Amino acid sequence: MSTHQWRGVIEEYRDLLDIPAGTPAITLGEGGTPLVHSGWLSDLTGGEVWLKVEGQNPTGSFKDRGMTAAVSVAVHEGAMACVCASTGNTSAAMAAYAAKAGITPIVLVPDGKISASKMAQALVHGAQVIRVRGNFDDCLKLSRGLAEAYPVALVNSVNPVRLEGQKTAAFEVVDRLGDAPDFHLMPIGNAGNMSAYWLGYKQYAAAGNATKRPVMRAFQAEGAAPLVLGHPVEEPETRATAIRIGNPASWALAEAARDESGGRFKALSDQKILEAQAALARNEGVFVEPASAIGVAGLFDDLASGDSYSGATVVITVTGHGLKDPATALEFFGEVREIVVDADIDAAAAAAGLV
Ligand code: F0G
Repeated sequence: MSTHQWRGVIEEYRDLLDIPAGTPAITLGEGGTPLVHSGWLSDLTGGEVWLKVEGQNPTGSFKDRGMTAAVSVAVHEGAMACVCASTGNTSAAMAAYAAKAGITPIVLVPDGKISASKMAQALVHGAQVIRVRGNFDDCLKLSRGLAEAYPVALVNSVNPVRLEGQKTAAFEVVDRLGDAPDFHLMPIGNAGNMSAYWLGYKQYAAAGNATKRPVMRAFQAEGAAPLVLGHPVEEPETRATAIRIGNPASWALAEAARDESGGRFKALSDQKILEAQAALARNEGVFVEPASAIGVAGLFDDLASGDSYSGATVVITVTGHGLKDPATALEFFGEVREIVVDADIDAAAAAAGLV
């Protein structure tokens, strides 16, 4: 008996991707992530709710989809080094794919504002990590500037090849469900991912692989909600550091996705984000990082404000693994029920509440 080995998003979908013919795939087997049915959220909404669990990608976030494409094309075009600005996940992915390709990864991150796990990923994969006194938006300016002036490939999502890779998540959703969902909920930060999903959904519908396209609803943290406010935020702030972004690069594309799909942007408090993270972990067994829980927080908030998802098929993308940021999770659960006992059965039984 043989099992099908998933070949990564380039080889699985090459004909549907706008990348140069003959681009060799630099892959870690990304994509093919589980679409997990949520009985809990389906019961709450009266619809069918599915979670696209992107933390199952090789470096723990959806960024691997875009990075296999961007690094493959960069190498095909002769790049010896690549650069990105990041709140942590893009840099983790870039460092891993650059290591696989044998090119030099250069990473620009906001000093003190990325999780230790993400920093470790970039460093362990051998990136030159530059900590910038500034926020993500400052890092992106530097990243663009370096790529303009020096022979390094820019692999932030302003590079359209990134979106080509990331749109495969929409293909996978449709392949699994047999059609596009009615609604797609997700976080939004620099706005590449929502733009990429919309690209994918439109392409699949145009090709006749789906009969419809979903309504796109994307969520930002209250302290970093430029798309909701309609203007850049000078000093973005949120515990969901992955989406701590004040001036998203793919602003216009995300607005087009919102308008063409009849969707919307909404801002949510950090408290709601962290509560959704906990609820998802406890009710569904899916541990995601704070930013990744915002689609679920958004579903709760929509229901509370009277929106209906009854009878609808809903996909929520949870973008990154919970182990990406254990510190924030542990801090939020400050009262963690951690009890220290001697190695004694009676003491353990008492601590466990069994007696
Ligand atoms: N969720 C996670 C876990 C992220 O890391 C990001 C973005 C987003 C959602 C938002 O996606 O930017 O395409 O709108 N992280 C980028 C980074 C900015 O550098 O890792 P987006």
